Amino acid sequence: MNWGLKNRLSKIIKPNTGHTVMLAVDHGYFQGPTTGLKIPRKTIQPLAPYADALMLTRGILRTSIDANIETPVVLRVSGGTSILKELSNEGITTSMEEAIRLNVSAVALSIFVGGEYEKQTLLSLSKLVDEGERYGIPVLAVTAVGREMARDARYLGLACRIAAELGAHIVKTYFCEGFEKVVEGCPVPMVMAGGKKIPEKEALHLTFNAIHAGAVGVDMGRNIFQSDSPIPMIKAVRSIVHENATADEAYKLFNQLREEKNPQ
Ligand code: 5RP
Repeated sequence: MNWGLKNRLSKIIKPNTGHTVMLAVDHGYFQGPTTGLKIPRKTIQPLAPYADALMLTRGILRTSIDANIETPVVLRVSGGTSILKELSNEGITTSMEEAIRLNVSAVALSIFVGGEYEKQTLLSLSKLVDEGERYGIPVLAVTAVGREMARDARYLGLACRIAAELGAHIVKTYFCEGFEKVVEGCPVPMVMAGGKKIPEKEALHLTFNAIHAGAVGVDMGRNIFQSDSPIPMIKAVRSIVHENATADEAYKLFNQLREEKNPQ
């Protein structure tokens, strides 16, 4: 792995803990104005200091993030579809040249193993990895987005392993029963996507289980920004990922911070 690529990866996966809390705010690229992200700047700005990386598109980067931000950026570079159409029909939407110009720490794209356009998305990943290796930009592959996918260890293990085999430097996937098997079969760092909003206590248990199954961290969106207390929630997630807190300790912290913010 070249020095630039290693250096960029170390901005995302913190060398002091070997872990990361990425904040995913890229949902609009196929969902439009998602709940909690209707005004991106309003949501992202207060959370950014607590995130180890922000995952977003260039449109939101340009319009909603100040250029003096210290939080590293993982730029989503795939898209071309909407929730109204076949989601797997994605291509690369942003060039590596643009990613370099925007000074990002990694690029991200989705792959759709088992989807109608599986091959096209896997070839996009391979192309991006070739370019990433050339310019020192890590590639994060997002797996298992889409309605029809069975998110079990067999399917996720297959999708994550294929992403790693094609050269992805980080793989993002959903939690499932037997997640440790998915991690075992994937020779590159894995981060867990949060999925749809669930109660904070459950999301913290999910985070704990993923970390203890071997994930290096989370790339979480809705379970943070759709919480009624997003900053306490991201701090609670951080306590698990970086400070070895249990899910119950993290939930206690979440409640404490929420009460401090909204005293009775
Ligand atoms: C969509 C994505 C999102 O970033 C991903 O879904 C993470 O967000 P959430 O925790 O809300 O699921 O990659 O393709």
